[in-house]
Amino acid sequence: MKAQIRNMTQADTDRVGEILYESFNAGAAKHGYARKMQRVETGKSWAWSMLHYGSNELLIAEVENRIAGICCLNPRGNLGGVGPVVVNPYFQGYRIGSQLMDALLKRAENLQSLRLIQEAFNPASFSLFYSFNFLPVASLLDLFLDGGAGQRLDPCSNVTELTAKDLDAVHTYDSPRSKSDRRKDLAYYVKWGKVFVYRDQSQIRGFLACLPGSGSVQLGPLLAEGEEEAGCLFQHASAVFKERDCQTRVMARDYLLVKTLMGFGFKVYCLDNLMVRGAWRPGQHIEAFGIFPEGV
Ligand SMILES: CC(C)(COP(=O)(O)OP(=O)(O)OC[C@H]1O[C@@H](n2cnc3c(N)ncnc32)[C@H](O)[C@@H]1OP(=O)(O)O)[C@@H](O)C(=O)NCCC(=O)NCCS
Repeated sequence: MKAQIRNMTQADTDRVGEILYESFNAGAAKHGYARKMQRVETGKSWAWSMLHYGSNELLIAEVENRIAGICCLNPRGNLGGVGPVVVNPYFQGYRIGSQLMDALLKRAENLQSLRLIQEAFNPASFSLFYSFNFLPVASLLDLFLDGGAGQRLDPCSNVTELTAKDLDAVHTYDSPRSKSDRRKDLAYYVKWGKVFVYRDQSQIRGFLACLPGSGSVQLGPLLAEGEEEAGCLFQHASAVFKERDCQTRVMARDYLLVKTLMGFGFKVYCLDNLMVRGAWRPGQHIEAFGIFPEGV
């Protein structure tokens, strides 16, 4: 089935949100997993955040004037974040996903590496990305916290909230460690959410961005020196957003951090693959990922 590829506009936001909601929930149900999004508004907030972030490439695949699929690309220096790549369930299996990936990769030709996060239970998306030379480089745990059932936690004394005037300091901390230029992301999270910074005396040792959506609060990106700093940042965020549902994705290798989060009441939703096309590989720092705008 041949699709027309065009850029997403404001007028597409609601329909794209519905497709995100329908497609991710249908994929989860097919493999016996709980719904990823409880309400269609969560899908619409996701679509809204991709548009308002000013994503570099927001592509729509259209068939007979209907939106058949969508994908998104955000370059950060030499590293690009890809996702979501989503096809309306009605059009799945007709190579719409492949046409979106072809179009997206043409627009990513000058980037050294691309990365994305794929739900490990979903063979369709794994096969699609693997066929475009994305290799799994790390396992992530997709964790959620039911705000009503979570522990009451105290804020952490080493953690403060970032203001726009401190953006440069956090950006200087982040870019050599993440090997990614996330200045625009930090500004976006400060504007629409909160960024918490862990300092030892005046030295930055980690940060966590939090973005409230219509359903849950997305926790991530996070980058921290060690599991202790990362644990404090999550504790602080859980204390600030008390009684709100939260969601994050941490590396399964960071066992002590995962245990700490489970102690706070986080539970595993599913296992994810961090997949990379190109040379980028995770460093030794602790990293975690949210979902909005495209999660990586
Ligand atoms: C993953 C997804 C985008 C694939 O879109 P699609 O248009 O159906 O995929 P295509 O028809 O282009 O198939 C491309 C390749 O994907 C793989 N694939 C697609 N459907 C598959 C299935 N049901 N089982 C196994 N592999 C499958 C195959 O390798 C296929 O290539 P082939 O036809 O040469 O064998 C779609 O299933 C989807 O939207 N899923 C829910 C959202 C999601 O999980 N997105 C990915 C994370 S961001």
